[in-house]
Amino acid sequence: MAVEIVTFDDAYREHRGALVSLHYHAWGGLDDLAAIRTARRSGFPFAPYLGLYAREGEALLSAVIVSRYRLTTPVGPETVAGIEMVMTRPDAMRRGLAGYLLREVHRLERSAGQRLSLLCTGRSNLARELYLKLGYQDIFYPRATLGYVDRPVTKSPRGYRVRRSRASDVPALARLHRRANAGSLGFSQRSPRSYRLRFLSGNVAARHLFVAERQGRIEGYATLEAHPTWNRAAEVIAPTPDARAALLAMLEHRSHARWLVLGSGWFGGDDDPELARFGPLAPSYGVMMACPLAPALRRRDLYEWLRSDGRPFACQLLDLF
Ligand SMILES: CC(C)(COP(=O)(O)OP(=O)(O)OC[C@H]1O[C@@H](n2cnc3c(N)ncnc32)[C@H](O)[C@@H]1OP(=O)(O)O)[C@@H](O)C(=O)NCCC(=O)NCCS
Repeated sequence: MAVEIVTFDDAYREHRGALVSLHYHAWGGLDDLAAIRTARRSGFPFAPYLGLYAREGEALLSAVIVSRYRLTTPVGPETVAGIEMVMTRPDAMRRGLAGYLLREVHRLERSAGQRLSLLCTGRSNLARELYLKLGYQDIFYPRATLGYVDRPVTKSPRGYRVRRSRASDVPALARLHRRANAGSLGFSQRSPRSYRLRFLSGNVAARHLFVAERQGRIEGYATLEAHPTWNRAAEVIAPTPDARAALLAMLEHRSHARWLVLGSGWFGGDDDPELARFGPLAPSYGVMMACPLAPALRRRDLYEWLRSDGRPFACQLLDLF
């Protein structure tokens, strides 16, 4: 039987059961499908076709979901394709289906003007082999450090209040992020809209974001995901040592008798004395990869290109899709 390609909407309309089953087997299913629909309704920047599915008769065998993001490259900000999920039904693996769909996504994205396709995966994920064959290169390794919080030691400087964020904080969060990343390449121009969308899509809920305020002015923010034995603050954007200390005091307090993980988005730099207790930020098993879609980018080392002229590559937790 021939394999044909259909879009998300066709698959949703004609093969709902098969769609849920495919997502379930790859990503835990029903919630993901519901989350995709909620995010789409709230304006998440999915590609117009949202995703492509390989259909064989009544069966959906494989899928790729696609969004579009803004990335600053050495020639300025541009829109790039972001591959969100790649999945093949276990009984249809190794038939070349994921590769087939990705090549078709590349063709569609190239004709829509995108010069790069980006995705995140694990360095030991079997899919990495496929991505390398298609021409993807590593462009970013998230880093993290962690320490056990026996007892909180950081004192919040006088005059600071740390509280949960609310929707009205969004412009201040975007402003802090923009200033912290001024001059960087990569995900340096995050729009205020993207915070709202991330909140709405549940990717990083507002209740996981804390702000440090002084005299009613927001001076920094931190993400915090709580787990039974560890907490993770993967994005801490606070330009001054005092604002960072206020946030770290809160993070330690909430991580009492747990491990506290600090991620790549720590804005004191590697030599920040606050980090000394935790040790150096070490690369994780995750990796962001990029595939050149435009012929002019094909022979480039994209890792080096995205750090041209010594400009850093900005990529924090909320950018890892
Ligand atoms: C990864 C995944 C999408 C691959 O789908 P697929 O349709 O089987 O992929 P393809 O047939 O197009 O594979 C192309 C190449 O990928 C590599 N590859 C894929 N699966 C592999 C496996 N189980 N073992 C080793 N290599 C594998 C091979 O290089 C393969 O080429 P080959 O068959 O000529 O050797 C599928 O295994 C899957 O759904 N996994 C679970 C979800 C997931 O991890 N997705 C990726 C998230 S980043």
